[in-house]
Amino acid sequence: PKIATITVQFDLGAGRRGASQGPKSILQAGLLRSIQKMDLSIDDITVISLGEVAATALDVEQDITNLNYLAEVITINTQLAEQVSQTVERGEFPLIIGGDHSISIGTLAGLSTRHKNLGVIWIDAHSDLNTAVTSPSGNIHGMSLAVSLGIGHPLLTEMRGLQPKLKPENIVLIGCRSLDEGEKKLIRSLGIKCFTMYDIDRKGMAQVMQEAIDYLKERTDGVHVSYDIDSLDPNEAPGTGTTVKGGLQFREAHLALEMLHEAGIVTSAEFVEVNPLLDVNNKTSQLAVGLISSLLGKQIL
Ligand code: ARG
Ligand code: MN
Ligand code: MN
Ligand code: MN
Repeated sequence: PKIATITVQFDLGAGRRGASQGPKSILQAGLLRSIQKMDLSIDDITVISLGEVAATALDVEQDITNLNYLAEVITINTQLAEQVSQTVERGEFPLIIGGDHSISIGTLAGLSTRHKNLGVIWIDAHSDLNTAVTSPSGNIHGMSLAVSLGIGHPLLTEMRGLQPKLKPENIVLIGCRSLDEGEKKLIRSLGIKCFTMYDIDRKGMAQVMQEAIDYLKERTDGVHVSYDIDSLDPNEAPGTGTTVKGGLQFREAHLALEMLHEAGIVTSAEFVEVNPLLDVNNKTSQLAVGLISSLLGKQIL
């Protein structure tokens, strides 16, 4: 398929600045070269670039309780949803490069116009299932999955229509190790499938991914991979704003994406939370290039 790379230079969903420079850094680390070198059935790559939004483009009160930069988050995600929707309507594969994880709100809103039963693999140290009520920070990148389930501020949940963008039973969380109390309650009450670091240690990544793939394959009409780089251990990915120790090792991370490619179920992907300002020798951007390549079919042999 044709790959449409959508870069989103946005970081106001996060608590610290810098993830807006992720796309530039990942492209500089050789993303397009790496994809082209693979000699896959990828016909062509286009790059659509969404710029940083200027301060308050929308008439939204800025002091809405515990929703930092709500107006800006709405503005960028409305633009992104439109781009993603157009991409899937053209039959292309959307590859979204963030930016912070709040951009999933727009990605999933855009995908939901095409997929009525979208599956999501959310690979992350966190679950991003907070609301303004449960969030310890007010940062919307910690709320994007809840918003896509229809839980949160109406200006976010009702983007491109009233209905939830996802069903809880179509989500698989992988790699969690930092969950807030409200998030744990939501995971339990909605019965969201969740493979924590404990499960990965206990079963191994290969079995966890096989279970995740089998689970989604039979119940969905497409699978989106939402990849937060902080899923990796901080030793592998220092360049991100909310590191949590005890994360995925380099090979575990690659194996998960190699297996997803092999399963042939993935219809879109996003890679988020690379923050070059916090990085060490571009290590995290280079890691992201490698991981994206694995998902798109790069093999060792
Ligand atoms: N749970 C914390 C919060 O709500 C951290 C969220 C981090 N999210 C992320 N996409 N890195 O603030
Ligand atoms: Mn995270
Ligand atoms: Mn996240
Ligand atoms: Mn292949």
